[in-house]
Amino acid sequence: MDIFQIQGGTPLNGAVRVSGAKNAALPIMAAALLADGPVEIVGVPRLRDINTFCTLLSRMGATVGWLPAVDGGRETLRIDGTTLTRPEATYDLVKTMRASVLVLGPLLARHGSARISMPGGCAIGARPIDQHLKGLEALGAISALAEGYIEAAVGRLKGATIRFDLCTVTGTENLLMAAVLAEGTTHLKNCAREPEVVDLARMLRAMGADIEGEGTDDIVVRGVDSLHGCRYEVMADRIEAGTLLLAGAITGGDVLAEGADARVLDALLEKMSESGADVSVVPGGVRVRRSGSIRSVNVKTAPHPGFPTDMQAQFMAYMCLGDGFSLVNETIFENRFMHVAELRRMGAKIEVSGSTAAVTGVPKLSGAPLMATDLRASASLVLAGLAAAGRTEVLRIYHLDRGYEKLEDKLSALGARISRVQE
Ligand code: EPU
Repeated sequence: MDIFQIQGGTPLNGAVRVSGAKNAALPIMAAALLADGPVEIVGVPRLRDINTFCTLLSRMGATVGWLPAVDGGRETLRIDGTTLTRPEATYDLVKTMRASVLVLGPLLARHGSARISMPGGCAIGARPIDQHLKGLEALGAISALAEGYIEAAVGRLKGATIRFDLCTVTGTENLLMAAVLAEGTTHLKNCAREPEVVDLARMLRAMGADIEGEGTDDIVVRGVDSLHGCRYEVMADRIEAGTLLLAGAITGGDVLAEGADARVLDALLEKMSESGADVSVVPGGVRVRRSGSIRSVNVKTAPHPGFPTDMQAQFMAYMCLGDGFSLVNETIFENRFMHVAELRRMGAKIEVSGSTAAVTGVPKLSGAPLMATDLRASASLVLAGLAAAGRTEVLRIYHLDRGYEKLEDKLSALGARISRVQE
């Protein structure tokens, strides 16, 4: 198994290019199944989760392949869903990646049936999919659970009004993908407003879908009879961008995240400014510098445009070195504090009570061997290791490889002393 070895204490300086967004690429790959022809997706990051999704699509009979980057451009993934024969996502894949459930909407819309292993809980919470199922049933699908699988079928989906009981990102995406080929109009209410939902809606529109209101909590979809193939460039990864910018801030450096879009990073950038970092939006990206002390600030995660839960662990690592007391409140997932025990092993002072972590800043962290537990927790341990005195080893970085493309190369290019070695 690979591990990261980090020699901390070097300020990171320089420019780094942000990859395409994992959480936008995955639903867009699922949406490719809706088209009557091949779809080319530009800038899909090379990640473990993307490979798993490619395997899922191929096993269903879709034709999936990478096109080489042309003229120093970005790599492109080509998906032809017209060859699909087995609308099924089996347990061995779903258990490694919950996002597999994103094929449910497209399969029902395009093929009239789907058999998907019911996802279980995961490291960060129970994560049920009741809202996905409730919505698809409102569009006319009949579904039943048999032997751990959701078996769903429908003639043609029919437009309906659906109000989500809570904000769900992949739930909104699944229903959006189902509604585009439904008969009539679908009103989706209390939708997730995440930028990745907006990116999906834009891609669906490029295939000929009729959608209004993405990025608000009220989306209207007028169903069409068919969708065509398209070429679409996936948005930059706001969570990777935020993580790289925090790497600059936590080490007292100066990092420019090229391709980062400040408009979708608002909540994080505001908190970084409040903490004393110098944040500037520059042509082509976002730059963060820090030279003074880190001011302790409070954060509370919330659906977009609130502070993203996917940045909570990394921000907590930063707050561990704050000049006072910080409250970190996690409101989206019930078990997303797995990094706390590891950060404490580096000398961090954190007390958890329910969904709130109280962080008392310390003047320094010290390097230690650490265990990664989930994707964003792994990133927080890497950030802490970069800032800590001495040597840190982060074990089980396969979690990190699910969502960060060549993170060690990007950090090394900024001057970090980090290497991947086999245990
Ligand atoms: N929820 C329900 N019922 C549902 C759906 C969700 O109770 O039917 C609950 C969840 O248990 C959770 C909350 O609603 O407490 C929000 O979950 P959501 O459905 O929005 O999460 P998701 O769609 O499963 C996506 C990202 C996550 C990110 C969350 C929140 C993808 C593939 N995953 O998950 O990304 O944390 O939205 O923004 O887009 C990550 O990249 O590290 C990651 C976990």
